[in-house]
Amino acid sequence: MSATVVSIDGPSGAGKGTISRLLAGRLGWHLLDSGALYRLVAYAGLRQALAADDRAGHARLAQSLDSHFGARADGSELILLDGIDVTQGIRSEASGMGASRVAAWAEIRAALLARQRAFARPPGLVADGRDMGTIVFPAAALKIFLVATPEERALRRYNQLKGKDSGVSLAALSREIAARDRQDATRPVAPLVPAGDAVVIDSTGLTVAEVVERVWHLGGERGLWQE
Ligand code: C5P
Repeated sequence: MSATVVSIDGPSGAGKGTISRLLAGRLGWHLLDSGALYRLVAYAGLRQALAADDRAGHARLAQSLDSHFGARADGSELILLDGIDVTQGIRSEASGMGASRVAAWAEIRAALLARQRAFARPPGLVADGRDMGTIVFPAAALKIFLVATPEERALRRYNQLKGKDSGVSLAALSREIAARDRQDATRPVAPLVPAGDAVVIDSTGLTVAEVVERVWHLGGERGLWQE
């Protein structure tokens, strides 16, 4: 069954996850954190000690991924892989780099496509990723491409990971995020580019509430919801 989709794409640390979660919560819609799926594939590969360049092995993992996206009693997110809580483990910058590596392989992207599209159920879906508006949901009713300066994105990621990912430093994060963006933007399959009909929002210097308001207003203008 098809449902209204709002796609929120953009580079790492632009605030897609936060904005998507708040918007989905406000609308009572479903949420797809597509990056988490790529992170889970990379994480599962590490756990099974697959060679980093084993494309067929990772593709098998992607096809049979036993993942669960839920919430704890306090409302915080809970992600299970084979029934095991990996919510924190997949958030490290190392997992992000692993995800970016497997995400460049066409067979992994193909294996995850139907799983992602299945999230589009009534009353609607907010989909967060890199290719939501270009490949996974090309008919999305509203496409946002969220950007921010590299400095601001590194700082936001740093504040997010501090305390969760021990040993994280701002300088190292800046380098890793830049490398991951380069890898995501230059890969031949599903590169990180805005859809032709996406609205680009630069969130540099804006508060989370201000970005949510902009998206809210755009959806209201298009009649997707009542402002
Ligand atoms: O969004 P997040 O940082 O969790 O994504 C991790 C990695 O997964 C990205 O750097 C990107 O390489 C990949 N990804 C992707 N397509 C998506 C979402 C994430 O290629 N739709």
